[in-house]
Amino acid sequence: MPGYSNFFEFIQTCMVNSSRKRLVIGNWKMHGDTAFNSELLAGLRQGIADVSNCDVAVCVPFPYLYQTRSLLEGSGIGWGGQDVSRHEKGAYTGETAASMLADFACRWVLVGHSERRSYHGETDSLVAQKAAAALAAGITPVVCVGETQQQQEAGETHAVIERQLAPVLALGAESVAKLVVAYEPVWAIGTGLTATPEQAQEVHRMIRERLQAAGAGQVRILYGGSVKGSNAASLFAMPDIDGALVGGASLVASEFLSIAAA
Ligand code: 13P
Repeated sequence: MPGYSNFFEFIQTCMVNSSRKRLVIGNWKMHGDTAFNSELLAGLRQGIADVSNCDVAVCVPFPYLYQTRSLLEGSGIGWGGQDVSRHEKGAYTGETAASMLADFACRWVLVGHSERRSYHGETDSLVAQKAAAALAAGITPVVCVGETQQQQEAGETHAVIERQLAPVLALGAESVAKLVVAYEPVWAIGTGLTATPEQAQEVHRMIRERLQAAGAGQVRILYGGSVKGSNAASLFAMPDIDGALVGGASLVASEFLSIAAA
């Protein structure tokens, strides 16, 4: 029962947890082309009937939003972008406004993915501004947080995540209640290394406590980092893990669906 002081607290949390609907989101990153996507989306559409009690979505590269929408409409599978501008509109070459994502009926958008933070210098405060921009357009931001291997080894995991979350929590209870948090330890992304369910639960528990303190304890917290069909069930068995943000395995329809089915 990592993160719990006693058995009763653990059981109580498990009961509350069961009231949060599971959520599995695929992050395609910079992969795909029209032919590949068409096959993948057809596979998802076909297999989704076997998935129950779980929201499922894919976050795709911007140029493929139109195609994704056309092929997923009416399937029950949602879609979204992998980033969004903090600005509403204007002279911001290369950026994509939240209203543009809404125009393509996106329900989700990733903000603050570790690849954006490390390759594009995104700060915690910018990530919170992007989350606010998404919320203003009626889109659910999936706020990604997570520590590097070096930070983990230095015992800084909690401090890093608290720092990353702080400006997001400052948006206020009403806003925070509408978002999703994804915990993705950077050392587990695309490496084949996964946090053990207990390791992940321990961090999710800490995030849950921060969310509770901010007045939004029922926010869904996803785990990300080398999630596959073979390890999904043991992760989802943890009381504070409400689903997954899936990279590599989301590019194979059967694998992605087996995670959602778990
Ligand atoms: P992998 O599932 O490929 O490790 O990627 C995780 C991720 O970064 C999802 O956003």
